[in-house]
Amino acid sequence: MCGIIGRVDYRDISPNLIEGLRRLEYRGYDSAGIATLDGGKIRVVKRAGTVDRLAEAFRSSPVRGTLGIAHTRWATHGGVNDINAHPHVSCDGKVAVIHNGIIENFAELKSSLRREGHDFVSETDTEVVAHLSEDILREGDDLMQTGLKLAKMLKGQYALVIMNSDNPERLLGMRHNAPLMVGVGRNYSVYASDVLGFIDETKRAVFLEDDTVSVAERNHLEVRSLGGLPRDYKVVDLAEELGSPDKKNFEHFTLKEIHEQPGSILRIMKQDPGKVTLFRKQLEEAKRIFFVAAGSSYHASMLGKIYLSEHMGLYSDVILASEYRSYERWFDEGTVLVAVSQSGETMDVLEAVRAGKEKGCSILGVVNHAPSSLERMSDTVVNLRAGQEVGVAATKSFTSQVALFYSIANKDIDDLEVESISRAVSDSLAQEEAVKSIAREIASSKDIYFLGRGKNFPLALEGALKMKELAYLHAEGIAAGELKHGPLALIEKGTPLILINPDDETHDDTISNGMEVKARGGVLIGVAPDTHGGYDYFIRIPKVLPDHYPLVVAVPLQLLAYHTARLLRANIDKPRNLAKSVTVK
Ligand code: F6R
Repeated sequence: MCGIIGRVDYRDISPNLIEGLRRLEYRGYDSAGIATLDGGKIRVVKRAGTVDRLAEAFRSSPVRGTLGIAHTRWATHGGVNDINAHPHVSCDGKVAVIHNGIIENFAELKSSLRREGHDFVSETDTEVVAHLSEDILREGDDLMQTGLKLAKMLKGQYALVIMNSDNPERLLGMRHNAPLMVGVGRNYSVYASDVLGFIDETKRAVFLEDDTVSVAERNHLEVRSLGGLPRDYKVVDLAEELGSPDKKNFEHFTLKEIHEQPGSILRIMKQDPGKVTLFRKQLEEAKRIFFVAAGSSYHASMLGKIYLSEHMGLYSDVILASEYRSYERWFDEGTVLVAVSQSGETMDVLEAVRAGKEKGCSILGVVNHAPSSLERMSDTVVNLRAGQEVGVAATKSFTSQVALFYSIANKDIDDLEVESISRAVSDSLAQEEAVKSIAREIASSKDIYFLGRGKNFPLALEGALKMKELAYLHAEGIAAGELKHGPLALIEKGTPLILINPDDETHDDTISNGMEVKARGGVLIGVAPDTHGGYDYFIRIPKVLPDHYPLVVAVPLQLLAYHTARLLRANIDKPRNLAKSVTVK
């Protein structure tokens, strides 16, 4: 969702601001803008559409300066147009603001600012912050005092970066339930919502704590709590945690990330056994266990639930993070929340975790993007170390989550088993050509169904989600046994059905369901280790232990969605309307 960059430097920064925005594009956005302090005045260029469009506008009307802010917007309040794009500027032109999040009380604030004579130009919630700042600064407050006063007025969630033309060497940053960090450079500082905003330039960063107001100068950073108390901070070195994302020879990041899975699975399954043991112990001692997650992380959690049940004899429940309120009454001191999030920033997950913490739950976090808010909020955390996932669709993070849950549940896994899983995933990748030819068969379909039982059901959901996201095709994952309870009515001549059918305990029942579909004209695409007379098409997966199938099945499903999307010329790494980090409700 919205990407934020703010920079205070000693040289002209406009090219860096635009480059920074390009690196944040993967978060998902629909408009972009920059503002710099140019000759003592704030000048803004903003456009609906891509950063390329912004860069074009910038070329014909360049703004320069050593102080500036830049933003990619994912619309929440107000349509997608040039005016609603950030930055937003105060009436006196002395304040410019960029924001990620939602100011919930913006309507009241806007009415009272209007009554005082402020003119609003946009439909956004953010613009109130520019006008409020103008009023506070006019009373003679410095930037830190302005931030502390704003914090008392604003309700909702925000990461804000604010510039003021009377403070040419400082930026104000504020965060409340939204990520914000500072890149520490040689003689410059960069605020960003994501380390990608500055990682190509500096590997030193301060992860600002939540509920803080900060003022950054070129060589200085002051951080205070929202209540005004000074806060210590640590400068961390990112070099080891992350790397610079690079597509290598792949056409898309998504394809590269799919191909990285033999390595990422190996990494998570061989990581710190002490951490895995601690996780397992906390689960064993829990009175109640809830997985809390969204999207692909939710599907991985469904597998976590099955592994915990089968290997540890533990009952758990999996809750969609956005639905946690229906179960909140069960959150208490004996409850463990396993919070699963690739980004570690999904607003719904963080809200559920906050609610859990208030009621005394222990939080076991599973994140890939570290450091992140979820990591900081967790009592125990496992970092998946799958490496930066740039493609918006989750791929390697999904299999790393599944592999982690299997490692936690099954304490007898040895290195030989781990290596055999990684090899089997490579074998699955080797089916890419066969998958490509099936993609050609299904690309013109209007609906595609994915069917599976047991551990294959979450895979059916995940395969369908990938198809929707990447290829924009209507797809549904169905529990094979549910077919007769409704979905069978959807099958007509030529409807493709992906039958996830490994040789595990679900095989025979699933094949029968497949044949019911075929009898009604459906086209059966089997994903299995052995072919079957009923399949019209077949994707071979390696023969592995039943517990390993989710990992080897995920790969051809990801490839199928990828190659279908490629044939349909979809925007694979950045699907329309979607964002990598879903930081609003
Ligand atoms: C699916 C996808 C999304 C995410 C969901 C949760 O490919 O990318 O559905 O899985 O937004 O995101 P995280 O795991 O970052 O909490």
